[in-house]
Amino acid sequence: MEINGKAAVVSGAGSGIGRAIALALVLKGAKVIVADIDEKAGRETVDLLGARGGVSLFRRCDVTQTEDLAAAFAACLDHFGRFDIVCNNAGIGEREDLFGDETREFERVIDIDLTAVIDATRIAVREMRRLGGGVIVNTASMGGLLPMPNNPVYAAAKAGVVNFSRSLAYLSAEGIRVNAVCPTFTDTPLVHQGGEEGEARLEELKKLVGGILRPGDVAAGVIELVEDDSKAGAIMRVTVNRGLDYAREIRPF
Ligand SMILES: NC(=O)c1ccc[n+]([C@@H]2O[C@H](COP(=O)([O-])OP(=O)(O)OC[C@H]3O[C@@H](n4cnc5c(N)ncnc54)[C@H](O)[C@@H]3O)[C@@H](O)[C@H]2O)c1
Repeated sequence: MEINGKAAVVSGAGSGIGRAIALALVLKGAKVIVADIDEKAGRETVDLLGARGGVSLFRRCDVTQTEDLAAAFAACLDHFGRFDIVCNNAGIGEREDLFGDETREFERVIDIDLTAVIDATRIAVREMRRLGGGVIVNTASMGGLLPMPNNPVYAAAKAGVVNFSRSLAYLSAEGIRVNAVCPTFTDTPLVHQGGEEGEARLEELKKLVGGILRPGDVAAGVIELVEDDSKAGAIMRVTVNRGLDYAREIRPF
C-alpha cells in the first residue's frame, strides 16, 4: 500500500514504539489518529508530529473498551475521510511475579496485550470490508516466538497475537492484510519499569540479544509491512543483529 494520502489509527501512540510508528506514518504522508489511554502523552505525540509537518488527531482510547476502539476508527473516517491502516500497538509489560500475584495482573496483561488486539482487529476488519480493504499491523514481540521465563503471561499474550495474525492471512483475498511485528527489547519506558533489579536484568538481556532497538527500528518494520502488498499473515522479526526478517511459517503437514 502506498502510504501517502492514507489515514491510520495507531494505538499506544502516546509513547515509545507507537509514537515512532505514528511519526513514520506521517513522514510518509499519512494522517494519523493518535489513540492512547494517556491523554497527556497522546497530545504530546500530536504536537511532536505537528512540529514535523504531520497531520494527526488525539483520541482518548482504552483498547480494552470496544466502544473506544470503534470511536477511534470512526474518528479516522470522520476527520480524514478514509480508514486504511490500523496499528494495534498499545501494550503493557508484566511486572508481578505470577505465582505471588494477588492482584490478578495477569488478566490485565491478557486483556490489553491479546484480547484488545483481537477485538480491534475484529472491528477494523468489519469496517475495512465495507470500505474495500486495508492493512492491520499488530505489535507482538519476540516474546511471542520465544519463551520468556520472567514474563510468561506476556509471552503467552504475544504468542496469541502472532498466531492470530498469522491465521488471518486469508483475508488478503478481500484486500485486507493482517501482519504482526516481533521486536526484541526496545528502548521505551516499558523496559525501564523494573527499578534497579530490572535495569540489571535488562543489561544481561541486552548482551543476549546483541543490544537494544530504538523505537524507530520497529517503526521501519511496520512501514515495510504496510507498504509490501505481498505480506499477509506475515510475522516480522526486528532484531539488533539481523535487522528486519520474517519468521518462517511452520508447516507440520
Ligand atoms: N519495549 C520493548 O522492548 C518491546 C518489545 C517488543 C514488543 N513491545 C510491544 O510494543 C508495544 C508498545 O510498547 P512500548 O515499548 O512502546 O511501551 P510504552 O509503555 O512506551 O508505550 C505503551 C503505550 O500504550 C499505552 N497504553 C497502555 N495501556 C493502554 C490501554 N488500555 N489503552 C490504550 N493505550 C494504552 C500507554 O499509555 C503508552 O502510551 C507493546 O505492545 C509492547 O508489548 C515492546
